[in-house]
Amino acid sequence: MKRIYLIGFMGCGKSTVSDYISRKYGWKQIEMDAQIVSEQKKEIAQIFAEEGETYFRNLETELLKRIASGEEECVVSCGGGTAMRSCNVEIMKRSGRIVWLKAKPETVYQRVKDTHDRPLLEGHMNVEYIEQLLEKRIPVYESAADLSVDTDGKSPEEIAQAVLCMR
Ligand code: S3P
Repeated sequence: MKRIYLIGFMGCGKSTVSDYISRKYGWKQIEMDAQIVSEQKKEIAQIFAEEGETYFRNLETELLKRIASGEEECVVSCGGGTAMRSCNVEIMKRSGRIVWLKAKPETVYQRVKDTHDRPLLEGHMNVEYIEQLLEKRIPVYESAADLSVDTDGKSPEEIAQAVLCMR
């Protein structure tokens, strides 16, 4: 199975690593948020504000179904909440391998603190809030993942090498 799904919290490096794997190893890359933005012609924050979170989550599930029946050799950068729906995890499990990129709350904070494109963090941009949300999600990421990779202090190359062990 050559389809790899990268899951994990916002700012854990999913997009950076999938981009790296795509550029260095020639894999097709699918960045779910970017694809949703391009198909909806709206930013994620705008979709949340105008249509609501459930609408966005339904778009994620619908996109995952298409990915799962598409090209096999690809690395998919999921949204941070994609693995929170059990039906999404089922789709990923039967169509590829799931790799959880782990990052400490402080690392996440450093990576996202100057951004404004994540509605769930708007108005809560601090380590404590990130830690609370992350704690709730960790058991779900953990049970979904075939492999977990620590990313703190690691280069994209080191993380990519670990991810590609899943092939
Ligand atoms: C979300 C993560 C975001 C994006 C949306 C919701 C989440 O993706 O899908 O803002 O629920 O964790 P990134 O993990 O790529 O930031």
